[in-house]
Amino acid sequence: MPSTPDIQPHRVEILRNANPATPPPAHTLVFGHTFTDHMLAIPWDAVSGWGTPEIKPYGPLQLEPSSTVLHYAQTIFEGMKAYRAEDGKVSLFRPDMNMKRFNSSARRLALPTFNGEALLDLIKHLIRIDQHWVPKEPGHSLYVRPTLIGTQKAIGVGPPNEALLFVIMSPVGPYYASGFKPVSLYGTTEYVRAAPGGTGAYKLGVNYAPGVLPQKSVAALGYSQNLWLHGPEHELTEVGTMNMFVVFSKDDGTIELVTPPLDGMILPGVTRDSVLTLAREHVSGKKRLQGLPDKLIVSERTVTMKEVKAAVAAGQLVEMFGAGTAAVISPVDRIGYMGEDVLIPTGEDGMGQISRPVWVELIGRQWGTIPSEWSVPV
Ligand code: COI
Repeated sequence: MPSTPDIQPHRVEILRNANPATPPPAHTLVFGHTFTDHMLAIPWDAVSGWGTPEIKPYGPLQLEPSSTVLHYAQTIFEGMKAYRAEDGKVSLFRPDMNMKRFNSSARRLALPTFNGEALLDLIKHLIRIDQHWVPKEPGHSLYVRPTLIGTQKAIGVGPPNEALLFVIMSPVGPYYASGFKPVSLYGTTEYVRAAPGGTGAYKLGVNYAPGVLPQKSVAALGYSQNLWLHGPEHELTEVGTMNMFVVFSKDDGTIELVTPPLDGMILPGVTRDSVLTLAREHVSGKKRLQGLPDKLIVSERTVTMKEVKAAVAAGQLVEMFGAGTAAVISPVDRIGYMGEDVLIPTGEDGMGQISRPVWVELIGRQWGTIPSEWSVPV
């Protein structure tokens, strides 16, 4: 925690937008293109600490061209969603996890850390002001994007003596243009997203920009995302914007749900953790999920493309899916790999034997139709 003043929610100043917009119909939304009427901004400097939080009309930032964020990518972000329940009440899903990860990313980039609960208070305040922007339509929500940038006006490389934390919000539907249909992946060996000792486990802007060119080249081949493969054994790590899960069946009828371990290269996703927790609660009997098999093993371990291909050939690959806040649960139907397409089984409408029951429980907890402590009222 900083020794200078921390974020102080009670000092918030509110400047209402004099020209509020009308939220567009949900079916016209393109992910992340529409923003609500207001934003939150909190300045920081090394001498006075966190300054007065301001909720004000959404609009341009004023930055000097020398600002460190523009030169050295001193920018981190979070992705969280606000959901509207049938009774109209709005809630966030496990926002404490986002606050924890935001601080961990800040620490990694030598940006200022803060009291996560204080920031969360302000985010809730912002959502309440713009709550009519939280869509009612199924599968739609309000994506909340906290961001923290270094704004020191000097081009030497070092920890910035000024920073700006801001939060913007965008009503969204499905992340992929294909809607909720399965996505195709291209197993990338030419580029890497993360390496041991690198920054893959943090939510830094710099982890995403280098993925755009590989993404563009696989889109030209007809695939929707990169599957980042690591090392000589081509270990599966992550997909462009999601964590990855693979489901195998064993000779004795056991089903194994696998995701790569948090070894420093994998982003500790909130949806990743939720999927693992729900599956483990089923196994332990804490909460059985209808449709999940009794003989289920949940593993965080390395998976290689060799293992995936062998399981596909043996009819023992049950399904694969990505998990992320933006993408929720996205089934995968093929992987372009070494000049061929590895075809991955999918359920009737995409979701498979494991992903469907987990997804049903997950979205129930997100939308509040299934009460749980993960749902935090706004
Ligand atoms: C999220 O799932 O919230 C993400 O951060 C992905 C984003 C890059 C669209």
